[in-house]
Amino acid sequence: MVPMSAVPPRDPGIIDLPPLPQATLPLWDLVPARARHYFHHDPDRGAYTTRRYEFGSSLELLPLVRAFLNTCAAHRDADYRHLFTLLGSELVNNALTHSRSGRPHGRYTLTCRRRSSGLHLTCTDQGDVSGRTTPAGETHPLVPDPRGLDFEAEHGRGLAMLDALATGWGDNGIADLRQVWFFLAYDLTDNRWTQAA
Ligand SMILES: Nc1ncnc2c1ncn2[C@@H]1O[C@H](COP(=O)(O)OP(=O)(O)OP(=O)(O)O)[C@@H](O)[C@H]1O
Ligand SMILES: [Mg+2]
Repeated sequence: MVPMSAVPPRDPGIIDLPPLPQATLPLWDLVPARARHYFHHDPDRGAYTTRRYEFGSSLELLPLVRAFLNTCAAHRDADYRHLFTLLGSELVNNALTHSRSGRPHGRYTLTCRRRSSGLHLTCTDQGDVSGRTTPAGETHPLVPDPRGLDFEAEHGRGLAMLDALATGWGDNGIADLRQVWFFLAYDLTDNRWTQAA
């Protein structure tokens, strides 16, 4: 008999699903018709206030993530779209790497709010991959690695990049339901991204 202490606790983020065959599909076939305009890069369909979409954990879906981010910023120039997509992709990489969202059947949600002066993106994941929780009433926000942008840095780049290039960013400080956000102002004049060019 296996002692109870040897049985790992059941992860509530993982749902038992019956096996289905694997298939190769055009990514469009996975997007419901009502949400297709979130992904088609058309600047004429940019008049939104909030867009929200839930993505699955498969890395094969990352082109869809980039299309979503790029389309959220479709009403801006190529430079802005590129930077917004880059920073949004870092939030997603972190959700997939450091949270339960990256596990099989995991999911995370991107919410983009369009403001008059810029775009605000939030990535909501399924909580720290270690199962760590934050006691009620406490918050422990993420902290960027001060050496994350060093040439030889092998990790710590994501939040350091966010810290350097977003107009503002932060997170809710709750390990078991992490929400990480950034705001990128449309005016990139004083942004290090523009100055480095
Ligand atoms: N969504 C998240 N959930 C839990 N922890 C996170 C999350 N995002 C970031 N972290 C924590 O913050 C640390 C720093 O993140 P950052 O993106 O800067 O570096 P990294 O992901 O470790 O490496 P890199 O981005 O260079 O591949 C991570 O190592 C992780 O401990
Ligand atoms: Mg990262």
